[in-house]
Amino acid sequence: MSAEPMFSFPVQGQESDERYTPSWVFEHMGITFDMDPCSPGEGMGDAVPATRKITRHEDGLSIDWHGTVWVNPPFSNSSAFADRFIAHGNGVFLGPVANARWAQDMLDAADLVWLCADFAFTHPTHTGKRSSMPLMFCAIGTVSTRGLRALANTGVHRGQLMVHA
Ligand SMILES: C[S@@+](CC[C@H](N)C(=O)[O-])C[C@H]1O[C@@H](n2cnc3c(N)ncnc32)[C@H](O)[C@@H]1O
Repeated sequence: MSAEPMFSFPVQGQESDERYTPSWVFEHMGITFDMDPCSPGEGMGDAVPATRKITRHEDGLSIDWHGTVWVNPPFSNSSAFADRFIAHGNGVFLGPVANARWAQDMLDAADLVWLCADFAFTHPTHTGKRSSMPLMFCAIGTVSTRGLRALANTGVHRGQLMVHA
C-alpha cells in the first residue's frame, strides 16, 4: 500500500512559523532590543536587532524575559507569546489582527497600536509570504512607543496609529 499524504496543502505548524520581519521595520524604529524570545537564531536570516535571541530549542516561553523585547510570535503559538508579552510589559509585538481572545487582550494592554496593511515577510527560501490578515504592531513602554511612532510616521507603509486612551 502506498503512503498518500494526508493533506495536499501546507498544514499550519512549524513551516508557517518561519516568517521573518523585513529589515525596514527595524531601520525605522531605531531600537536595539534586549531580547527576541522567538527567533530562528543567529545567522539564520532574520533582521532583528536584538542582543539576545532565543530559539525554539531553548524555548522562549520557558526562560525569563528581560528589558525591551521584540516579539513576532510563531503563528502556531501566538496566544502563549502574546500573554507573556502582556505580562512582561516592555517591548513591541507584531501579529495578525486575529479574531482571538489574545488579540483583544493585546489591544487592551498596548500603549500604542499601529494597525497596518499586511506586508511580505522574509525567509531564506520562501521570501514574500504575506499574512493574509491586517497586522498590528503593539508597543508597551516609553522606548517601544517612541520607536513605533517613528516607524508609523515615516509613511513607508499604510496604517493607522492608535493611542491608548
Ligand atoms: C514568525 S518567526 C519571527 C522571527 C523573528 N523574531 C522576526 O521577527 O523576524 C517566529 C520564530 O519563532 C521561533 N520559535 C517557534 N517556537 C519557539 C519557541 N518555543 N521559543 C523560541 N522561538 C520559537 C520559530 O522557529 C521562528 O523562527
